[in-house]
Amino acid sequence: TTSTSKNRGLLILLEGLDRAGKTTQCQMLCNSLNEANGPGSCRVQKVPDRTTQIGQMINSYLASKTTLPDQSIHLLFSANRWELRQTILDSIYSGQTVILDRYVPSGVAYSLAKGVADMPIDWCIAPERGLPRPDITLFLDIEPEHANIQSTREDFGQERYEVSEFQVRVRACFKEILGDGEKNSGVLDMGKVITIDACKDIKTVAADIWQAVQSQDVESSEI
Ligand code: TMP
Repeated sequence: TTSTSKNRGLLILLEGLDRAGKTTQCQMLCNSLNEANGPGSCRVQKVPDRTTQIGQMINSYLASKTTLPDQSIHLLFSANRWELRQTILDSIYSGQTVILDRYVPSGVAYSLAKGVADMPIDWCIAPERGLPRPDITLFLDIEPEHANIQSTREDFGQERYEVSEFQVRVRACFKEILGDGEKNSGVLDMGKVITIDACKDIKTVAADIWQAVQSQDVESSEI
């Protein structure tokens, strides 16, 4: 189970398309875990972390204030995760659970969905090798057409990738790289992968996520 009896915290990843409700669900799951296991026993890490210098470069790219080659932005997203590596490990090995709001699968799926000829899947994955592996990955699945209605973000459409046809391709790439259900069934090893129907209402999705996390018998192995 996911109790604090483990000597390390868990690494839990929430993934999905833009507007799937990840940020809301990360916060709800974090609140529930802090209630269950004690205040401060869990925290959320947003990825990309836009507060670092690399994060600011990513932010201006996403806002279309700068242009960059597809390869460069791909590597900046990866570099941004490498900046977070040590603090994630420190948290986990001090016993704190970390919930990631996006991570490696977003890095690979969004770049692959661009369909750039010299960025095949192994090129996209290469810079991610060696980053901490999540214990469990929850893929919040929505039909891209659904996203508008579900969104609490009124600013949708402002950023570079928030275009419906592109989101359809990203969803297919997510499914290809994460697989469905069984550990290691996809191209990336992101721990146990569970697909959550995120078209349901917020409370039902939160309950489904809670159940998935509770029912997961996570190995306390090295990350
Ligand atoms: P956010 O809206 O969750 O902050 O994510 C920013 C955008 O960047 C979103 O459209 C997904 C995309 N993205 C990538 O293209 N590569 C990555 O590695 C990550 C983490 C996000």
